[in-house]
Amino acid sequence: MAGLSVSTHPLVAHHMLVLRDPATEPPAFRRVVRQLTRLLAYEATAALPTIDVSQRTPLAEARGRRLADRIAIVPILRAGLGMADGLLEIVPDAEVWHVGLYRDEHTLQPQEYYNKLPRNCAATLALVVDPMLATGGSAVRTCEILRDAGIPRIAFLALIASPQGVATLERGMPDVAIHVAALDEGLNDVGFIVPGLGDAGDRQFGTSPR
Ligand code: PRP
Repeated sequence: MAGLSVSTHPLVAHHMLVLRDPATEPPAFRRVVRQLTRLLAYEATAALPTIDVSQRTPLAEARGRRLADRIAIVPILRAGLGMADGLLEIVPDAEVWHVGLYRDEHTLQPQEYYNKLPRNCAATLALVVDPMLATGGSAVRTCEILRDAGIPRIAFLALIASPQGVATLERGMPDVAIHVAALDEGLNDVGFIVPGLGDAGDRQFGTSPR
């Protein structure tokens, strides 16, 4: 379902504090990104369509359901990589399609430098992951790439969003469902989410701001 969902799960709220803490070092930061993504994805996938099937157990026939969708996980490089790892833990059969974007530090516009969509994009649902939905430019660009590839349904999962980023994504891609762990106050004058957590890529990979 399109629209914004902000998690109210107590575990999500608890783990978010660890990410926000500047004292959290990259190993713990990466672990918590994966934990949070699993929790967020559990909520984001709660209404996925299923197909009724039966399965023979050692004792008898059991009725069950399996996912109807062929799912692609789309991490926006590089900060989305940690979320892709978390998502793969609960959707291990998903394909992973990497999209590389960086924000031009002056214009804040997304610049594409990598695209590993397959030649035949047969997925029926793309789960785009990026920890930060700041201005929304990277999210909209990635969803445009997927829409142009013919993907029928797209959901966007972020750990922290700004109201501006949500508005931009909703305006640019009204059919995309947005799931976030936290909705923050806004953006500072260099396009960082406030209060946020700093730079999610640098904090996961131990690099310094360029
Ligand atoms: C950050 C973040 C998003 C983007 C969000 O990536 O991970 O991809 O900025 O900003 P937007 O909503 O204003 O487009 P960054 O460009 O810092 O690259 P990185 O992931 O390689 O660190």
